[in-house]
Amino acid sequence: MSEKEQKYRELLRQAKALVEGESDVVARMANIAALLHREMGFWWTGFYRVEGKELVLGPFQGPVACYRIKKGRGVCGTSWAERRTVVVPDVEQFPGHIACSSESRSEIVVPVWHNNDIVAVLDIDSRELSTFDETDRIWLEMIGGLAYGPQCDIWFAAGCFWGAQKFFKLIEGVEFTEVGFANGRLKNPTYEQVYTDTTGHAECVHVKYNPEVVSLKELAGLYFKIIDPLSLNKQGGDEGTRYRTGVFYADESDLPVLEKVFASVKKDLGVASIPVELLPLLCFYPADEYHQDYLDKNPGGYCHLSPAVFKIARK
Ligand code: SME
Repeated sequence: MSEKEQKYRELLRQAKALVEGESDVVARMANIAALLHREMGFWWTGFYRVEGKELVLGPFQGPVACYRIKKGRGVCGTSWAERRTVVVPDVEQFPGHIACSSESRSEIVVPVWHNNDIVAVLDIDSRELSTFDETDRIWLEMIGGLAYGPQCDIWFAAGCFWGAQKFFKLIEGVEFTEVGFANGRLKNPTYEQVYTDTTGHAECVHVKYNPEVVSLKELAGLYFKIIDPLSLNKQGGDEGTRYRTGVFYADESDLPVLEKVFASVKKDLGVASIPVELLPLLCFYPADEYHQDYLDKNPGGYCHLSPAVFKIARK
């Protein structure tokens, strides 16, 4: 594990403890920005909040910044419009970049999701080129997500991610889902590369949820209702290591909860082990827009899950 990842792991724990008990969003943003800025040594760290058709400057640390950014404009407005994290290695190469300070050289903007909508973005600037990568993306999405209330993250590999995403989206308390490729070797793999079954990635759904509405234990219990826990590298008609099953966690405190769920599944099945991975999340690369919410966009599309399972999840 890289030093940066280790630091973020600790910061996620600190940020969760820091915002606990405070319900005011601006106050939570202020302390999240302060914590990140100081501990990570960033140049500019702050939030822009969605207000109608614009982003409006929120709590931040660093030099003065522009107040309002329109949807689709700059890095922040692009992240909002395209509903994804934008990593910019060199701001001069990003068409439409809004330069609040001429000293900023690279930037990352992550959306803050709440009830399946983007309510703000977390923007971080650096005075060096190429400061941010996929590690920053994964952890900043989690830490920024704490601004609007309690939010936790878990990654489920459940065979083909089209049906798995449709299932998890239906569960009350789930605030965001995204499909992608987890725990493989190749950086930024394409679907076609993962499809060769040589990159080591598993098709996976990233689930953000409000732990006050649905618990990890409940989510993991539902997960086991949509997989065959005895089948290795095969779910429904889909075969290959990319369709293996697994639960990947970012927060260490999730492990004992998940271990209990796994133990009870094994006990119920009367087996000593199941071929379902239980591992820390090592990496996650979102799949192309084409694969996101695939079955909403293509209701008659291929789904390896039986229609009956969606009734279990219905909100
Ligand atoms: N560079 C941002 C504007 C905000 S400042 O970086 C603080 C953008 O292009 O959206």
